[in-house]
This record gives sequence, C-alpha cells and structure tokens, in this order.
Amino acid sequence: MKQSIYHPEIARIESWETIPLVAVAAANVILETVQTDPRAHITYATGETMIPVYMATEGIAQQKRISFQDTTASHLDEYWPADPCRDEFSFVKYLRERVFEPLRIPQAQRYEMSGTTDDPEKEARRYDALLSENPVALAILGIGPGCHMGFNERGTSFEQRTHLARLSGETIHRDRNERNLSTPEHAITQGIGNILDAQRILMVAFGVQKGEYLFEALYGSISSDCPTSALRTVGEKVTIVIDTEAASAMETMERASA
Ligand code: F6R
Repeated sequence: MKQSIYHPEIARIESWETIPLVAVAAANVILETVQTDPRAHITYATGETMIPVYMATEGIAQQKRISFQDTTASHLDEYWPADPCRDEFSFVKYLRERVFEPLRIPQAQRYEMSGTTDDPEKEARRYDALLSENPVALAILGIGPGCHMGFNERGTSFEQRTHLARLSGETIHRDRNERNLSTPEHAITQGIGNILDAQRILMVAFGVQKGEYLFEALYGSISSDCPTSALRTVGEKVTIVIDTEAASAMETMERASA
C-alpha cells in the first residue's frame, strides 16, 4: 500500500495508492504533532488538495479524542483583496469552515490574515511579527503552478518573509480559467523564510500535474526559480505525502530526462 521513495535530501517521501489513503497519512502527521504537543502552533495551507486531508483530520481526531483546543492556527496566505464574508475564494473563509470550526480551535488562537485591509504591506509585517513570536511546530503545504508554495511564485528569494505577492500568470490562469474564480492579482503570503523556519514541514500532492511540479522541485536545481526546491535545504524536517499518480508522473519524467 505505502511505498517509500528515496531522496538524498528529503527525510521522508511516501506514496499511497489512493487520495483517501494520502489524506489519512497526512492527517496522521498533523495529529501526531498535536499528540506530541497539545499546544502546537500549526500553519495550514488551503486549496483543493487539503480538503480530504482536513476531513480525515477531523474524523480521526473525533474518533481518537484528540483535541485541538489548545493549539494555535495560522495560515500561509490570503488573496488581496478578499473578504471572507463575501468572497468565495477567500482563504480565511475556507479555514474557518474547514479547519477552525470543525477542529474547534478557539477564536483567540486563530491567526487570520486580513484580506480586507487597505494596507497589505503593513498587514504582512504584522503577520510576520506574529510568526516570529510564535514558532511553528508544523507547516502544512501544497504545491501549485510554477512550483509555488504559499504564494511564493518563481523568482522569490528563499530568505523572503511575509509579503504582498503579485500572482504569476500561471496561478491567475488556474484560478480564473480552470477554477472559474474571480480572484485578484495579489495575495499576502508567508515567505519562504517563514516556511523554512517551521520545526516540521508536511507537503501533500496528488495527481499527474503535481507530480510534474514536484519532479522539478525535487530533482531540478535548488534555486529561487523553483520556490518549492527550497525544501531541500531543510530536507531533514520534511515529509512529502503523494499518491501513485504523482509518483508515476515523477518516474516518467525521470526516465525521460535520463
Ligand atoms: C494555498 C497555497 C497554495 C496551494 C497550491 C495548490 O494556501 O498556499 O500554494 O497549496 O496552489 O493548490 P490546490 O491544492 O488547490 O491545487
């Protein structure tokens, strides 16, 4: 069922046969973090990939009576402008509905980025300070167009802290044309520097296209041209959970490049 994929820099890469199995394996990493430290600060990615992961997390937490009530929750990014009360695409809306409320994380322990602010640069500085004062035990990540993680697009320095990012043409195309969302061209995002500071990092990916992004990140050069390749600089604390489709896409690309 599970296959371990050897990589010289990344501590753990697991491939599972189906998306539900990927979701449970990823949920178990999240739940282990909370069992080890019930007050853990966790950074949650949003996006389609994470929907089954958070559903599995909620289900297993209920079954095993694992409480998130003492944990703190932050997130990677939010579109700007975005209003969680009005905009379907808002990541704050997503997190309230899929993470904060189902896992019953108290209001005071939810660090929400404001997508409604008039001064996104100031909001990015506020969020960055919050992250510096509250070390992250686990950062949960997905991978997207141009190998982005968070909304760190190609060309972002590995030292970059939380900032207002201009989204790439590829990301805007995915959101507006493939997903039919009226998303803006900017987002506030944790920088790669913030992500690499986390004590542990979990990346989840499934499907052929994600396998192709991952191949570039894991086997191409480590460079700001491929933001996710930064994970290899802290590979000892990284776990990547993927499905067999993503794993086969990586193999196919490896064969083609040999
Ligand atoms: C979302 C985020 C993004 C997504 C990536 C993949 O908070 O930071 O980097 O993880 O765009 O998105 P999905 O999972 O929707 O394909």
